[in-house]
Formats: sequence, C-alpha cells, structure tokens
Amino acid sequence: MNQAFTKWNNFYCQEKKGMVYPNESLIRFFKGTYMPAYKQQGYEGMKALDVGFGTGNNSIFLGSLGMDVYGVEVEEEICRQGMEQLESFGYKSDFRVGTNSNLPFEDNFFDYIVSWDVIHYEGCEQKIMKAIEEYHRVLKPGGWLLLSTVAPKHTILQGSQIVDAHCYKIGLESDFRKGQVFFYFDSPGYIKSYFSKYFSDISVGRVTLDYFTYTNDTFILNAVNKDL
Ligand SMILES: C[S@@+](CC[C@H](N)C(=O)[O-])C[C@H]1O[C@@H](n2cnc3c(N)ncnc32)[C@H](O)[C@@H]1O
Repeated sequence: MNQAFTKWNNFYCQEKKGMVYPNESLIRFFKGTYMPAYKQQGYEGMKALDVGFGTGNNSIFLGSLGMDVYGVEVEEEICRQGMEQLESFGYKSDFRVGTNSNLPFEDNFFDYIVSWDVIHYEGCEQKIMKAIEEYHRVLKPGGWLLLSTVAPKHTILQGSQIVDAHCYKIGLESDFRKGQVFFYFDSPGYIKSYFSKYFSDISVGRVTLDYFTYTNDTFILNAVNKDL
C-alpha cells in the first residue's frame, strides 16, 4: 500500500472528518463576477470533477450549484466517506479511486474540473505532464479547469530540499508529508508554459493568507480546454 495515500486516508477519515466549508477562492470563481464567462452558461446539470476532494467540502459547494458531482481520491475509504457526506446534504455523487495522472473516466466527459491543492502531489515532471494530459482528456473541448497549487511563500516549503527542477522534498518537521517530493511550478510563467499545450485562455492569480504561524500561499488558475 502507498504510505502517502494511507496518511491521507487517516487525515481525512479521522482528523478532518466532517469538514464541510468550501474554499473561499472557489466560491469567488463560481459566484463572483471575476470570470463572467462561467455564468453565461449556468451550472445546472453540468458535470464537475473534484480531483482529490478530501472531505468533499468543495464537492458539496459544486452540488449546491446544481452540478452533477464526480470525484477521485487515493483511497476507497475516503471515497465512501465523501459520498456519504454528499448524500447527507442531499446531493448524489460518483467518487472513484484515482489520481491526477490516472482519472477513471471516459474522454470528453466533464464541463468543469476543480483541482484544489492537489496537482503538486505528482512528484515529478513526467507525472505532472501526464496529469495535465489527463485533465485535458476527460474535459470536454471548451470545458473549464479551475486549479490551485502551492506558491513560493507557502509554509509547507520551509526547510524543503530541491531534488530536481521544480521538485522539492518536504522538510517541515511538524507535517505528515515530510519526506515526500512535491512538484511546484515556482512562477506563473512556468504554470502557463506547462498547461499551454492543452489549455487556452490561461489566467493565473495568487492568494496569500498569513495566518500568524502559517502562510497559505497559492497560485490559482483558470483555463479553457483546447479542442485538439
Ligand atoms: C491538501 S488536500 C486538498 C483537499 C481538497 N481538494 C480541498 O481543497 O480541501 C490534498 C488531497 O489530495 C489527495 N491526493 C494526494 N495525492 C494525490 C494524487 N496523486 N492524485 C490525486 N489526489 C491526491 C489527498 O488524499 C488529499 O485529499
């Protein structure tokens, strides 16, 4: 069994069990006026994939918009618990075991992919490229990708060791991910260069939240799937 996946299973099925509040930036993406093109088509009946949904907190929000909710997680138990959670809110969901680079869904299926703080767990360039290709494959042409990933000032990077281009071995003593290698894009320019093969209209923003003892620094991205 993959040790990192087991740690996530413990984290979401024990420590974080029951968390239901969606990420604020995601609410702004969908409900704000920052990206008017989304609203024009409406959300009712759209198919959304929540990659690495954790407790399903963002999935609940997607369900509340009227979308059909799908998701992948690394362990069966996380999927089971997530679907139970969605059901308790009155939303049907289809959660399956998978990863960024292995999405168990057919081609051209989704209108939206939400990848929230997840893609960097693919620890090398080859897997990142595969993940981006997978996002492209399962999204419909013209579908939207909404993504957040770690930016340079994030506390998780403190004490990390660079082991390859964009690859950081986590060194933070207090974190259960210590020792894992993550892929970070380092700058908006790199994000654009990695995604531009399969996505157009790429916008990259940044959200930095300083919580006294922990800095949550993330790049956020929205992009349109190319019809190749
Ligand atoms: C920081 S949490 C984010 C959870 C959720 N997206 C959110 O925003 O609250 C990262 C999630 O990614 C999952 N994960 C870890 N490795 C993954 C991989 N290779 N592919 C997809 N998901 C992964 C973990 O199980 C965990 O639920």
